[in-house]
Amino acid sequence: MEALLQALQPLPFTLFLIVPLLFLLGLISLLRRRLRYPPGPKGLPIIGNLLMMDQLTHRGLAKLAKEYGGLFHLRMGNIHMFAVSSPEIARQVLQVQDNIFSNRPATIAISYLTYDRADMAFAHYGPFWRQMRKLCVMKLFSRKRAESWESVRDENEGQDEFIQILQEFSKLFGAFNIADFIPWLGWIDPQGLKLNSRLAKARKSLDRFIDLIIDEHMHKSKQGNVSDDNSDMVDDLLAFYSDEPKVNESDDLQNSFKLTRDNIKAIIMDVMFGGTETVASAIEWALTELMRAPEELKKVQQELADVVGLERRVEESDFDKLTYLKCTVKETLRLHPPIPLLLHETAEEAEVAGYYIPAKSRVMINAWAIGRDKNSWEDPETFRPSRF
Ligand code: HEM
Repeated sequence: MEALLQALQPLPFTLFLIVPLLFLLGLISLLRRRLRYPPGPKGLPIIGNLLMMDQLTHRGLAKLAKEYGGLFHLRMGNIHMFAVSSPEIARQVLQVQDNIFSNRPATIAISYLTYDRADMAFAHYGPFWRQMRKLCVMKLFSRKRAESWESVRDENEGQDEFIQILQEFSKLFGAFNIADFIPWLGWIDPQGLKLNSRLAKARKSLDRFIDLIIDEHMHKSKQGNVSDDNSDMVDDLLAFYSDEPKVNESDDLQNSFKLTRDNIKAIIMDVMFGGTETVASAIEWALTELMRAPEELKKVQQELADVVGLERRVEESDFDKLTYLKCTVKETLRLHPPIPLLLHETAEEAEVAGYYIPAKSRVMINAWAIGRDKNSWEDPETFRPSRF
């Protein structure tokens, strides 16, 4: 009996702490839930606003924002979606509360194509993403030599086939799949996509290319043919290669971090997708806008003639002095952001502008609409680099 009493003794003290804590947590959660969802168009039972799927583009969402405001709510099947079209709300989501909003949602297709988020772009915010980012910034993006990526480009001798594979990937990345929104309706294939077999086929085709690049680099390294002068970014990645993944947060990147073959393949893919269309679109739009504004074109040409001259190509070290060119790029990205809608996901529930955002919600930040926001920009539709 005495033993029982002794065992119970710490209990009142623990209860004294835990009960008020539970009460407090309950109260907070109750208050949170009392918050309303942001405004938004009314949905139907079960499917919610799924019939508005075709309006989930930067232009469609900008139109809806005129009616419902800078933060509005849609429900797509089981998933809550929030569209952000005002700079103040975007700052809340991307800066003030970035710890909650920094994950990216992955559809079933994206998870499959990225080897279950083995890359950086779709890795959840956490130790793996932080180490991956450190590695990319230090080793991959800091390289002065653009040729660092050349093996990835040159390897693709079957250019036409390679482009076709990339195009199929892009389609699959964006394909609507009802199973993402209402899992138990996954057997329906409304657009006749036959998604699963297309995914497997696309993955296999791209693997052929990337595996070849990796095998050749491994071979080169085994023969001791890799030196600082001739190493490229795939060699840099392979320096972290191991059969077993390992992540721990130490400053010594080389010892604390290991990449599997899937990680390496997925990073190469990130760069293929993240760094090609975006750059091409920015260049095309910059040239288009300059052709439409001959006065601006003259200013950029004059600056290039003054800083670089007509005898050589532009080098990275010139950029600091090419201020008008930089403003032109910024103005181009304002009007034509190559990724006009940023997709994020909430890691936990949150409150934004007095509204309730549940955990695991999708948040679409409309960079295109924010770049043209009338309250932030004077004469927003006009291309005017000097505003920067
Ligand atoms: C004009 C050129 C580019 C534009 C406009 C652009 C735009 C973006 C945007 C909007 C994001 C996502 C931000 C967010 O969701 O909050 C992003 C992420 C990313 N971009 Fe780019 N990008 C460009 C060039 C590149 C290049 C050249 C590379 C690779 C060599 C690259 C690799 C990546 C990667 C890996 C991520 C994911 C980063 C992370 O999750 O931490 N991008 N980019």
